[in-house]
Amino acid sequence: MYPASHVIEKRSGFEFPFTQADFQTIVRIVYERSGIVLAASKRDMAYARLVQRLRALGLNSFREYCEILSSGKSVDEIGFLINAITTNLTKFFREAHHFEHFRSQVLPELVKSAGAGVPRIRVWSAGCSSGEEPYSIAMTALAARTQTGRDWDLQILATDLDTATLEQAKAAVYPKASLESVPAPMRERFFDVHAHAKPGGIRVSKQVQALVTFKHLNLIKPWPSSTNFDVIFCRNVAIYFDAKTKAALIDRFHSLLREGGWLYVGHSESLHEHQHKFKLTGRTVYQKIKT
Ligand SMILES: C[S@@+](CC[C@H](N)C(=O)[O-])C[C@H]1O[C@@H](n2cnc3c(N)ncnc32)[C@H](O)[C@@H]1O
Repeated sequence: MYPASHVIEKRSGFEFPFTQADFQTIVRIVYERSGIVLAASKRDMAYARLVQRLRALGLNSFREYCEILSSGKSVDEIGFLINAITTNLTKFFREAHHFEHFRSQVLPELVKSAGAGVPRIRVWSAGCSSGEEPYSIAMTALAARTQTGRDWDLQILATDLDTATLEQAKAAVYPKASLESVPAPMRERFFDVHAHAKPGGIRVSKQVQALVTFKHLNLIKPWPSSTNFDVIFCRNVAIYFDAKTKAALIDRFHSLLREGGWLYVGHSESLHEHQHKFKLTGRTVYQKIKT
C-alpha cells in the first residue's frame, strides 16, 4: 500500500501523473531557491506551467522530473523551474500614484538636498520582472528633469531572479498595447514605434534604457551591492514570501537605504510590523527611520 501522498491522481485532462509527493518536492525546491511559498491551491498552476517542459524533456511523469531536480546534477533545470514558477505580472506605470509621488515629493527633495552640486540619485527596482517598472521610473525622472532644468547623476539598478524575464527587460521591446498605461505625453517621447524589433512591437528609447542597469539577483541570497540607495521599489514581490523571509528582506533594505530614503511596496503590502524602522509617508510609501 502506498502512503496517501504517493497515490497517483488520474484526473481527466491531465497528461502526466503528478502526485502530492511530487508537488511537495517542487514546493520545497522552489522555497529553498527563491523564498516563494507555493500554497496547496497552486498545484494546478504548477502543473500547467511545467507540463510543456516535461514534454520537451520526453519524460513520462512528474516523478521523473523531480528526480532530475533532486539529483543535484542539473543547475539549469532548477533555473528553468524557478523561471516557470515566478509570477511576472507587471505593466508600465503600475500603481501610478507611486510615480507621481516619486516625481512630486522624492525627486525635488533629492535635488534640493544636493544644494548647488549635481544631485546623485540611486534607485533600485528589486524584482523588476520584464522591465516596465524601472523604465517607468526612468521616464518619470527624465520628464521631471526637463521641467526643473537641472542636470543630475541618476542610476537605476533593476534586478530579478528570473533570467528569462530579465532578457525581455534588456531587449526593451513590448507589445504596442502596453502603451495604454503610459501617460500620453511620454508615449511619443520615450518609445520608438518605428524601429521595432517585432511586428506590432514598440521599443523603449535608448535615452531611457541608458539609465537602467539590469542584473540577475536572488533577494534571499547574499547581495554583492553595498550601494547606499535613495529609493527602493520592491512591489508585489514579498507577497510571495513567508513572514520570516519578508522580515529579513525588509531589514536588508533598511541597511542599504540612506537615512530618510524611500521604500515603495505593492498595493496589498504593509510594513506595520517594522514601524520602528520605517514610517508611512504616502500610499504604500515608507521612509527609513534611523535606528
Ligand atoms: C509580480 S512581479 C512584480 C514586478 C514589479 N515589481 C511590479 O510590481 O510590477 C514579481 C517579480 O519578483 C521576482 N522574484 C520572486 N522571487 C524573487 C527572488 N527571490 N529574488 C528576486 N526576484 C524575485 C519574480 O521573478 C517576478 O519577476
